[in-house]
Amino acid sequence: MEAVRKGSVTQMNQSHLKFICAALQLGSPEGAPTSVQGCRGGSFMWQVHTEKAAYAIKQLAPVIDLKSESIVTKYELSETISYRFAQLGIPAVSAIKQSGKHLIIIENIGYLVYPWIEGYTLGRDEISETHAIKIAEIVARLHTINLSVPEIEAPRFDIHSNDKISAAIDKSVSLKCPFAKTLKENKNFILSANESYQAVIPLLRQESVVSHGDVNQLNVLWDKTNQPILVDWESARKLNPTREIVGTSLAWSGMTTENFSLPIYNRMLRTHIKSCGSLNKLQVEATLQGLFGSPINWLLYNIELACTSDVQKEKDIAIKEVNGTLMTMIRCKRLIPDLLKIFT
Ligand SMILES: Nc1ncnc2c1ncn2[C@@H]1O[C@H](COP(=O)(O)OP(=O)(O)O)[C@@H](O)[C@H]1O
Ligand SMILES: [Mg+2]
Repeated sequence: MEAVRKGSVTQMNQSHLKFICAALQLGSPEGAPTSVQGCRGGSFMWQVHTEKAAYAIKQLAPVIDLKSESIVTKYELSETISYRFAQLGIPAVSAIKQSGKHLIIIENIGYLVYPWIEGYTLGRDEISETHAIKIAEIVARLHTINLSVPEIEAPRFDIHSNDKISAAIDKSVSLKCPFAKTLKENKNFILSANESYQAVIPLLRQESVVSHGDVNQLNVLWDKTNQPILVDWESARKLNPTREIVGTSLAWSGMTTENFSLPIYNRMLRTHIKSCGSLNKLQVEATLQGLFGSPINWLLYNIELACTSDVQKEKDIAIKEVNGTLMTMIRCKRLIPDLLKIFT
């Protein structure tokens, strides 16, 4: 069990903290905020105690353009979605609201404040079948609720041409990136995976539902009674539900590790089928056929970052992401025939 780790990586801006505490009437901070691990994508999470309670203050990544109205609207909408799901009985945490707004922007830095949840995230080797089933049940409940959010856009599918992918691979070869050789060796696989994904997009567009969108291990806190609580609704959107349950099942059954568990994957899908009534066979097949669409998008983003960034730390993270994504794709490709057997 991995307790939410704390350590003082950097300091939270004191005047921002004061402003936030006053604006949301959180009370006076007792001691310095401590940083909470588990953030991805450049954000920071701080734990703050006041005489009233403990809070989790999320400081958004500096790359997020808070001058963009659509981005601010997106943050407001995702917190509203988590709130509405919580009202409907989903164990979800949403940001504290003041004067109708969740997002606080101070000197162009965005903050969201949550009640602190006592819990822990699970490491990859700690997931049991019981945990996985609980996750599948929650995802099924989200899908069954079929929350109506008229203002939310239709699901987005990232599309990249094979020429663009080839050019990115060639660039990494000419710049002698550490992953260039592996990328080149797998070029045909990546290009054909990209074609398979694009071929199934019309089918995947046929089903959509509003859901969490990122039910990975770092976004689930487990309480004392071993019940899951969903945090980080930043990716909440309209999405294809089959893609979500297949992706979530793969993640919780260890797809990114050496110890993938087919029985856990199958149990998760069956749990979803039991709760939702059915899982469309064609949609599952299309999802598996198009499984590499998202990893290819992530791969391209990180190849570009690794090739162009002049910040060494950012470059190193991008290289790690490219290597990890490629490994998972190669491992996953071998498993697809087994993953398809759920219906046989
Ligand atoms: N309300 C909360 N109470 C306690 N810990 C939290 C809370 N919300 C998030 N966390 C912890 O902070 C980590 C990072 O938060 P998250 O919102 O997932 O950030 P990111 O968008 O960077 O992934 C989570 O993995 C979780 O461990
Ligand atoms: Mg997260």
